[in-house]
Amino acid sequence: MKAGGDEIKGLILAGGSGTRLRPITGTGPKQLIPIANRPVIRYCIQDISNCGISEIGIILGNNYPHKIIDLLGDGRELGVNFTYIRQGQPLGIAHAIGSARDFLGNERFVVYLGDNLLKSGISNIAEEFTQNKLESMILLSRVREPSRFGVAVMDDDGNVVDLVEKPDKPPSPFALVGVYFLTDKIFPIIDSLRPSGRGELEITDALRILMKSGHGVEARTVSGWWKDTGRVEDILEANRLILEDLYEKKSDPLDHIGKSTHIDGNATIIPPVIIGEGCTILSGAMIGPYVAVGDNCRIQGAGIHDSVIDKNVQIDCSRVIERSLIGKGVRITVSGSGNRDVGGMGDLTLVLGENSHAEF
Ligand code: DAU
Repeated sequence: MKAGGDEIKGLILAGGSGTRLRPITGTGPKQLIPIANRPVIRYCIQDISNCGISEIGIILGNNYPHKIIDLLGDGRELGVNFTYIRQGQPLGIAHAIGSARDFLGNERFVVYLGDNLLKSGISNIAEEFTQNKLESMILLSRVREPSRFGVAVMDDDGNVVDLVEKPDKPPSPFALVGVYFLTDKIFPIIDSLRPSGRGELEITDALRILMKSGHGVEARTVSGWWKDTGRVEDILEANRLILEDLYEKKSDPLDHIGKSTHIDGNATIIPPVIIGEGCTILSGAMIGPYVAVGDNCRIQGAGIHDSVIDKNVQIDCSRVIERSLIGKGVRITVSGSGNRDVGGMGDLTLVLGENSHAEF
């Protein structure tokens, strides 16, 4: 994005250890978990590139960083240019931004946490930041559990007067969304930070110092939903929200079923559902509502609701599987007898890491 000769850069944080999403993150970074069959990080890239930003830095941690590079490449296909930056240990969001100092130089930039999703994107806000040459901007969203996030306190005129990270007693319901518009003024502040109680250099602390030292920190409340996909229930909710949006745009389920996928006449699809390419959905299966099935899956007999199923999964049993997160290459079968009909044994809620085998 260019305004008055200034190019703004993008920085996506795809490090961290993803401990809250184990075992799914035992074989890959959380930013690659599919939501409605697209890795979370792809939505961040889309939002940034929709602002007209082409230079995008990607922060990598120690949890299978090469999987991110293998997926995204150099960005040419998407019309952008990726620069990969190794942060290593997850020493905090502010530390990650500090690691990108050489890439960012003295240009203005937007930081996007690689596990955040926003319904309405960020292009309006990027435009305001660029056009008005603001010093920094943060996004807020009113939430039910502010203590899980950074929280902003505002005065009656809507000016931010304080910022605090994951307070036990939240002073306001406004959470900090994981998107920050900044300039190089943040770097000396990052240098002066001390690790927080959780041992991280916090962006919330850096922003508070920026604000208290007389620099403008403008806040805008996001329109539409915002989701931090840090926990299984958040991923399932994000999946539901994106599926609803997809069906708002195209309501025919056939528009959301991939090439060369075969659905048996006796299988039932209850939208909103997305099914990838090369899948076989066999007799007795009931898929939906709110289910994403990745490419090359084979599902027989099971009823699946409100779940995310990654690629190459095989399910062959007559159980109801709901509120589940199933990793790549998982097999769910019934034991030896070959009788798939083991219904009546209660519904299953599963979180299974890549290539697991569950037998019932
Ligand atoms: O999602 C919004 C929240 O994100 C804000 O409200 C909080 O103020 C902010 O601190 C942050 O909180 P989280 O605890 O959710 O952050 P998390 O550790 O999950 O990291 C967010 C993203 O940044 C994630 O994609 C991993 C990446 N990351 C994180 C750390 C700590 C890095 O790349 N490097 C790091 O060192």
